[in-house]
Amino acid sequence: MAQHPHPAPHPNVHQLTPGSTRPGAGGSEHGHGSHGHGGEHGHDGAPPGEGLAEMLDLDAEVVAGQVAELTRRIAEFAGERPVRTVVDLGAGTGSGSFALLRRFPEATVTAVDTSPEMLAHLAGSARRHGLADRIRPTEADLDSGWPLTGPADLVWASSSMHHLSDPDRVLADIRATLAPGGLFAMIEMEAMPRFLPDDLGIGVPGLEARCHAAADQARAEHLPHMGSDWPARLTAAGFRILESRDLTVDLPAPLPDAAIRYAPATLRRFRAGIADRISPDDLATLDVLLADDGPHALRHRTDLTVRSTRSVWISTPA
Ligand SMILES: C[S@@+](CC[C@H](N)C(=O)[O-])C[C@H]1O[C@@H](n2cnc3c(N)ncnc32)[C@H](O)[C@@H]1O
Repeated sequence: MAQHPHPAPHPNVHQLTPGSTRPGAGGSEHGHGSHGHGGEHGHDGAPPGEGLAEMLDLDAEVVAGQVAELTRRIAEFAGERPVRTVVDLGAGTGSGSFALLRRFPEATVTAVDTSPEMLAHLAGSARRHGLADRIRPTEADLDSGWPLTGPADLVWASSSMHHLSDPDRVLADIRATLAPGGLFAMIEMEAMPRFLPDDLGIGVPGLEARCHAAADQARAEHLPHMGSDWPARLTAAGFRILESRDLTVDLPAPLPDAAIRYAPATLRRFRAGIADRISPDDLATLDVLLADDGPHALRHRTDLTVRSTRSVWISTPA
């Protein structure tokens, strides 16, 4: 079997003990390190620090069933091969890491993120769930170099690859880090979830569609890799795609509690990213929806739904 070269870890990597952040690491205003590339904005166009952790945790609750099904499918592909060494790239608050720890009882996860705030949040959750000894929060900027030594049995990257300035370089590093027969699961969301009916009873109908159009513009400027041809990039990086699938959430009204909280958490971030790109009237309507109270406030509405689709590719070194 061919030896896989394991890229040398970049020197600028900080292993964090669960619950701690590197001293002095929290200086970034956006909680996102200091690199100046498209990753400075979330896929909704908002700065990463603003409410991102809350939104990611609620997102994790809303998609938990679908993610469990996805990890089950990954376990099927792993078959008899044990999954012990797992890497979560752009781990955020750790929803993927925790789902993988639940699925693979022998695994430990190295959770890589450039944001010390995200990693501190993840470490706190790990402690609360008694998983701190199985997860290694690792502060590193994937754009500055590859932070890990291999081999890994499984690499997971959920809604993170499009943040990178050179995803092809990172795909090559992932491939080189994977053990022979290892698996790479990549999830990408092409658009933020949708929640609102077309006619809200206030403002001009079609608010959410106009907000999405504004967010598309913001993303084209800040996150040029979002929505790119990932299967082609995976293949070019030397992966064989074992399965492509959609991870779809379609929750009807009335929503369960977590999903009701997910709507304002998401739309609040949406607002931060597009406030200067929508009309003053639309902004005023959005603010009525996001207000803590009032008859049209999201939290009092019974007509919210959640509609969201992500693309998933499970691949292995070719
Ligand atoms: C949209 S969040 C996704 C978080 C998590 N994977 C999930 O699915 O809930 C993207 C994450 O990637 C991280 N990130 C962005 N650019 C990065 C980089 N260059 N190096 C490491 N992490 C990065 C952000 O800090 C953020 O936590």
